[in-house]
Amino acid sequence: MKKGFVLAIDGPAGAGKSTIAKLAAGKLGFAYIDTGAMYRAVTWKLLQTGEPFSPELAGKLANEIRITFRPENAINRVFVDGTEVTDAIRTAEVTGLVSKVAAVPEVRTAMVDQQRRMGAEGGIVMDGRDIGTVVFPDAQCKIFLTATVEERARRRGLELEAKGEKVDYKKLQEDIAFRDKQDSEREVSPLRQAEDAIYLDTSAMNIEQVTDKVLELVKEKQ
Ligand code: DC
Repeated sequence: MKKGFVLAIDGPAGAGKSTIAKLAAGKLGFAYIDTGAMYRAVTWKLLQTGEPFSPELAGKLANEIRITFRPENAINRVFVDGTEVTDAIRTAEVTGLVSKVAAVPEVRTAMVDQQRRMGAEGGIVMDGRDIGTVVFPDAQCKIFLTATVEERARRRGLELEAKGEKVDYKKLQEDIAFRDKQDSEREVSPLRQAEDAIYLDTSAMNIEQVTDKVLELVKEKQ
């Protein structure tokens, strides 16, 4: 394995990026960094202040926040200034606001700086929206992971049902399509495929097939 190897996985919400990135990192012996969790952490911190959203407040908090990851078995535990927020950053309240927070230029600058520092040594899998385009444009392997909106909603719905939640599939599809639109149309670092990224539509693939395909692509780039 070449030193400094970065595997960048980008794609829309619910495409299975974190599941695949985590599994691939485990197989490769790489660290895994979930950059979506970082934008969620800033959003959580903003909600904790009780103040309404403003780009100024979001930018200030992003510059102060200390985000750390601690992988434990299959779970990637997330901490903000020492407090565990692994579950707290996945609430509907955070999910509803995160796209707005992630569109603030100061927030992005602060997060991208941290992500570059975290990945400076290589040996990492990083997933997000702008890893191959902005954070690590020289990553050795870039994958753009996607699936149809219907399939992404179906997967997410099954996850929620497994947790005992009642699921409205039409609403799930609408929410996913809305987040895609917000993430793709924002001015700073919108979600888009890097020119040299490999496009992988996983609509008709299972987790094992996608992981195997990703590992095969990494091998070709080593
Ligand atoms: O992958 P996720 O759903 O946890 O990401 C949460 C939000 O953060 C999503 O709406 C887009 C944003 N995001 C981003 O703008 N850039 C990244 N590199 C990762 C996530």
